[in-house]
Order: sequence, then structure tokens, then C-alpha cells
Amino acid sequence: MEKLAHKISSRSAVVGVIGLGYVGLPLLATFHRAGFATIGFDVDSKKIESLHAKRNYLQHLGDELVCALHTGAAFDATCDFARLSEADAILICVPTPLGKHLEPDLSYIEKTTDAIAKALRPGQLIVLESTTYPCTTREIVVPRLEARGLKVGQDIYVAFSPEREDPGRKDFSTQNIPKLVGGIDPISGELAVALYRAAVDEVVPVSSAEVAEAAKLLENIYRAVNIALVNEMKMVLTAMGIDVWEVIRAAATKPFGFQAFYPGPGLGGHCIPIDPFYLTWKAREVGMPTRFIELAGEINHGMPGYVVERLSRALNDRGKPMKGSRILVLGLAYKPDVDDVRESPSFELIERMTDLGAIVEYNDPHVPQTHFMRHYGDLGLKSVVLTPQSIAGYDCVLIATHHKAYDWQMVADHAQLIVDTRGAMRGVKGSSDHIVSA
Ligand SMILES: NC(=O)c1ccc[n+]([C@@H]2O[C@H](COP(=O)([O-])OP(=O)(O)OC[C@H]3O[C@@H](n4cnc5c(N)ncnc54)[C@H](O)[C@@H]3O)[C@@H](O)[C@H]2O)c1
Repeated sequence: MEKLAHKISSRSAVVGVIGLGYVGLPLLATFHRAGFATIGFDVDSKKIESLHAKRNYLQHLGDELVCALHTGAAFDATCDFARLSEADAILICVPTPLGKHLEPDLSYIEKTTDAIAKALRPGQLIVLESTTYPCTTREIVVPRLEARGLKVGQDIYVAFSPEREDPGRKDFSTQNIPKLVGGIDPISGELAVALYRAAVDEVVPVSSAEVAEAAKLLENIYRAVNIALVNEMKMVLTAMGIDVWEVIRAAATKPFGFQAFYPGPGLGGHCIPIDPFYLTWKAREVGMPTRFIELAGEINHGMPGYVVERLSRALNDRGKPMKGSRILVLGLAYKPDVDDVRESPSFELIERMTDLGAIVEYNDPHVPQTHFMRHYGDLGLKSVVLTPQSIAGYDCVLIATHHKAYDWQMVADHAQLIVDTRGAMRGVKGSSDHIVSA
């Protein structure tokens, strides 16, 4: 333990990060900036090639982040997992998706842990960062590592520290978001806290890996439930002819006891639509239902259907059927100003409208073309050019994502019909007869 503690305090520890995606790459860069030699591991050889060529594959982080890795402390990236033995600390940032029946898919964590186990040597610290249900670190990671004959807390050290990344945000980064850290045992916890303290502004130690795992789920469930609440409010208030956006703004003037959440066409991203169901699955083991999570899931998953129903009625009111209508979806990314399309509701909107016979195209300044996705395959679509003439040519424009790059006044001035799921039309001037909230 002393040897590793000294390596951490003297910044001579080598930090390995497995999974160089939205979470892993900025995390690796944070340790590198703090003066640690870093090695990035990924199964995707294209990512490794890009990093060697100083090219960033994650648009929102910019090429500068990757260029900076090639100056200062040592840095390498590799697909060779035998090199995990070179790292003193190994941080796991691989995906944790859901299976077909909303069950946790831990296969990435399992494969990664097995790869670590093969290269394991005494004195290494392993930290799981992937979001997962409480007890995963103790029940899945620890036994696979200990199968190598090394004891956690004695020969090797294991902890959980959830990532709280919000890609695209300018005011918060891995560096200044407080980091929760919980060990499998007190010594593991202490070492992990020391490691993160050397690179991150604020570290919050908790008493166990399970507390850290559950805290991360609580954060995401809190968002899922509150988003469902405002989505329900939106449907009710819209039916009453009341502007939900103005209502939320009004309520948010209360200086305590209220936090604003905003409605939309459904949930997107790699976290909020997925993580809550990790707890639902695990809760069955203790015979408990998770009714808030299920209800929030039902409401949020129902939003694309609600939006398409509103759009279909709006076309109908203008004497147009969905079948054969030309519809432009604005925004493919699940949130503004990023190129992340994972779990984006735009895909379900496109699928539903296409199923009803509409001719659907999209524009997204951050997503020039669609690529292969697990649920949808490759739609083979390219972002269309946005001009006053092109907008006027569609029977309806559906606003799915409120990217800052959009000129909403131009859209309002030229579209025949607008279905707005984001409150984007609130500030535009002129007639609003052709604008429908959904
Ligand atoms: N994206 C976010 O905003 C965010 C925020 C907080 C937590 N998380 C959590 O962090 C974890 C990672 O999410 P992400 O968004 O970075 O995912 P990602 O898909 O962007 O990155 C995962 C990376 O892991 C690699 N990978 C897959 N299998 C691998 C394996 N067996 N060995 C090595 N590399 C492998 C992939 O090639 C990819 O580069 C998830 O558990 C997620 O829930 C994500």
C-alpha cells in the first residue's frame, strides 16, 4: 500500500484508462494534465489511431485536448491489453447498456475485468467508473480479480467512482465536478481518494463502493423522474391552452425548494433513459418494486408517440394526411450543441412518422449523416441544407433539438407548419398560427 501511495503522491504512478469514449477520454486527459503518465486502452482501433494522429473523434472536446496529450507527461494509447500490467491505477469507463428486456448488460464490465485479471500484478488499484447497480464492483469485479489469487485490500485495491460528465457543458469538466469515491475496503478507498485528489479539484469520500454506486443512480433517477413530471405537466397544460414553458419559468423564480426541469420529445443520451432500470433490476433481488422509475419510464417513453400524434393532428387540421407529407426534423442529437445521438428520441420520431407514410428528412449542424445504431441500423440519411426556400418546401418542420446554431426567426418566417417540442419558438416575432406545441 505504501509503495502505491508514494507513487500517487509523487505523481510517478502510471494511470491506465479503459474505454476512451465520452467519459474515459476527458478523464485520461485530466490525469495527464495533473502530471501522470497515462495509457489509454480501447477495443476500437480507429480511436487509438486518431489519438496517435492527434485527431479527436469527440467533436465537443476539440483537437486541442488530444494534441495536449502529446506534450508534457508520457502518453500512449493501445489496443494491447497485456500492457495493463504497466499501469499502477486502472480506471474502467466502458459502456453499461440495457439488454433487450431492459436488463443490465454487464458484458463490457465483465470482459474488461477479465482482461485486467490476465495482466494483474500486486500493488495495482482498479476503479470502476461505469454507471451500474449497487454491489456490481463487489459482486462482479472483485471475484474475477481475486480468482487470480490476489486479495483485495491486501495485494490489490478496488473502488468505485462514478463519472458525472455532462458532455458539451462549458462551466463544468471532469476537473471541477466533485468526485465521489468509495472503496471495497478502507485501504482501497483511501488509495482511490488519494489518486483522484491528485487530479480533481474536489473529492468526496464515501464509506463504501455501494454508496458511490447508489448515489450515481439516485442522481440519474432524480432527473428521469423530474423530466417525466414536466412532460406530464406539458401534456396537461397544453390541453388547457397554458404555456408550460412560461409556467416553468415562473415557478423557477422561487429561490428555494424548486429546480427547473424542461420537457421534450422523450429521453436521450447514454444515461437517463438507461441507468434507472439498473436499479429496477437489482431491486427485484430484495423483492422491492421501483414504481417511480417505472412510471417515469412509461411517461418519458410515451413522449415520441405524443409528439407524432400532435403533429399528425396539426397536419390533419390543414387537410393533409401524414402519408405522403414531407417533414423536416430539426436536431438529431439528443441535446443541444453536441453530436451525441445515443438513445436520441429523434430516431423514434423519424421511425414512427416514416411508418405512417411520411417522407422524413433531417437537419443537424452537428450530425452530417446518420451512422449505424444498435436499434435502428443505419437510416442512410444526410443532414439537408437549411435555407428559407428549403424550409418552405416541407409540409411540417418538427423541432426536436434546440441547437444554438439555429435561426429560429428564419424557421418561423418560412415554415408552413412548425411542431415545437422544445419551446424554441417562444421568442420569435410575427404570427404564431402555424406553430403547435408538442
Ligand atoms: N456519456 C456520459 O455523459 C456519461 C456520464 C456519466 C456516466 N457515464 C457512464 O460511463 C460509462 C461509459 O460511457 P461513455 O459515454 O463514455 O461510453 P462511450 O460509448 O462513449 O465509450 C465507451 C468506450 O469503451 C470502449 N469499449 C467497449 N468495450 C470495451 C472493452 N471491452 N474494452 C475496452 N474498451 C471498450 C468503446 O470502444 C468506447 O470507446 C457508462 O457506464 C455510462 O453510463 C456516461
